[in-house]
Amino acid sequence: MLISAEQIRRRVEELGEAIAKDHPHGSLCLIGVLKGSFMFLADLVRAVPRSLRLDFVTAASYGSATETSGEVRLLQDATLEISGCPVVLVEDIVDTGITLGFLLDHLRSKRPASLRVAALLDKPARHRRDVTIDYVGFRIGEEFVVGYGLDLAEEYRQLPDIYVVRQPQA
Ligand code: IMP
Repeated sequence: MLISAEQIRRRVEELGEAIAKDHPHGSLCLIGVLKGSFMFLADLVRAVPRSLRLDFVTAASYGSATETSGEVRLLQDATLEISGCPVVLVEDIVDTGITLGFLLDHLRSKRPASLRVAALLDKPARHRRDVTIDYVGFRIGEEFVVGYGLDLAEEYRQLPDIYVVRQPQA
């Protein structure tokens, strides 16, 4: 096990408080990136003591089960009106940063009042695009991980803890 459910629970509380502190006024829009962020978002919304609106985007990149191809597509957009609203984009994990960069460009075009990023996990050594993450749960190495929403070929999302997947030797 890499990160336990209890470690996640404590860290999500801290992230929720940080988000609330940075958004003292008015309503906040949280936009989760499906599918991987569903569990993180569900816990995070209960840790942010603010009036909130929620929506989701679905992004996909072609590639193998564990490697992005670098080409991202928006499969489903948010329908919430975010123009003039402070927005926090909620990601499960930032690997190369290509998905996040694409989604930030997309959301910025909708003119939110502010746009920040929360990511449960970050793999800084693998970034290929320069992205700023305002709220990081845990920084990890280059390993592929599953659990707490994260999958390998659609499996393991339901696990309450986060585990490293041992890659078969090529
Ligand atoms: P990026 O565009 O390379 O940053 O990839 C981001 C997306 O790839 C994440 O939202 C995940 O869906 C997926 N991903 C990257 N690394 C992992 C991992 O270690 N486990 C599970 N999914 C991952």
